[in-house]
Amino acid sequence: MTLWGGRFSTKLNEQAWDLNSSLPVDQRMAIQDVDGSLAWAKALHLAGILQDEEHASIALGLDTVKKEFISGKFSFIDSDEDIHTAVERRLMDLIGSTAGKLHTGRSRNDQVATDFRMWMLQAIPELDAALKDVQSSLVENAESAGKTIMPGYTHLQRAQPILLSHWWLSHYWPLQRDRERLFDLTARVSILPLGSAALAGTPVSVNRNVLAKSLGFAKPSRNSLDAVSDRDFAAEYLFCATMVGIHLSKLAEQIVLYTSAEFGFFELSDAFSTGSSIMPQKKNPDMFELTRGKAGTMIGMLTGLLATLKGLPSTYDKDLQEDKQPVFQATDTLLKILPVIAGALRTITAKPERMRNAIDSFMMATDLADYLVSKGIPFRETHSIAGKAVREAGEKNIGLDELPLEAYQALCPAFEADVYQVFDPMKSIEKRNAIGGTSLQSVKKQITECRKNL
Ligand code: ARG
Repeated sequence: MTLWGGRFSTKLNEQAWDLNSSLPVDQRMAIQDVDGSLAWAKALHLAGILQDEEHASIALGLDTVKKEFISGKFSFIDSDEDIHTAVERRLMDLIGSTAGKLHTGRSRNDQVATDFRMWMLQAIPELDAALKDVQSSLVENAESAGKTIMPGYTHLQRAQPILLSHWWLSHYWPLQRDRERLFDLTARVSILPLGSAALAGTPVSVNRNVLAKSLGFAKPSRNSLDAVSDRDFAAEYLFCATMVGIHLSKLAEQIVLYTSAEFGFFELSDAFSTGSSIMPQKKNPDMFELTRGKAGTMIGMLTGLLATLKGLPSTYDKDLQEDKQPVFQATDTLLKILPVIAGALRTITAKPERMRNAIDSFMMATDLADYLVSKGIPFRETHSIAGKAVREAGEKNIGLDELPLEAYQALCPAFEADVYQVFDPMKSIEKRNAIGGTSLQSVKKQITECRKNL
């Protein structure tokens, strides 16, 4: 039996029923659905639609339903089409026909949008906590990296030396922006659709301001037509989640690369790596590859939801039922990935010697140009002189630090014996002392700032 069977002569075709039913997905919003109904029953009571005893009976029945969900004792039956009808059906079992008064002035259209927003309001802090833990692991690694130096890359070509701690923290800030984005989004999720009914608004004289507060929303929606169709919050949430996925995938790609024998900058702990069924020597970074891979799936889900929303006729359309699955899946994916990443980062071993050996004197070519700048020569000229030195050393197959002083002085008379000091990578690092640079002092300040957000 459906809750809308009155005008139909036959029951829904079985396969059509299967296609139509959303219970497997939306049963996840069971608690939100019951809480929304409890608040609605109270609003109906205040509006004089429910008598004292009727309200008491409905509230008691809903409490029982909620307890059944919490204890896992709730049993769905075949005719439950979605979570909203399942709750109402069970209430009917428990308290009889009074249950039929609960849906007065309400529609599943405003109900589902309300449930979904309530679900999201509790999911955001959960995601935030998981993100924060990964941030903590990055700060811990930055702290224990001390003065370890490594090559910094652009275009994946050796560029300039940096502190390992600076590199770790370069993955902290994207996650900080993700957390800020989720926090900003909360204001737009916290708009209550309940009281919009099917599309035109509820005929019941409910105080929607009070209703909104009672359900933890900032305020009620202002246009019922918009309220039942607005899924911006779902798209935005998916974007936020996908952006997290993209950030994690960039970190993952670097870990995959840096744990290869060619780089050898890190070694993963056994607890967070896997072996090969054929090659006994293998230690694979599967967790990071999966992280990289799942970002692709998330991009697909975001694109899919945006495509669903595009060009929908006003107001509620059944297409909107497609909104929840990607949001739930993206959330589950992140809540699975984030703790694994945090654990893997906390147990990774850095190889300072490998990192140091990957820094060559050519990476200080900018410092060589800057050296001549300190002698009063314009940077555009010094860049060219340093370039010539690079070419000459390259042709001789020696390092920049091995090029004799006479060769330097032939390129520019301003070179003096102290030029060789620029090839100390730590000196190069220490010069980058402005806010946001890689110097020890600057990174120390950065760590203090990072800690403040945790
Ligand atoms: N299961 C539906 C959804 O997720 C609930 C709303 C149904 N509304 C309707 N008019 N059939 O969107």
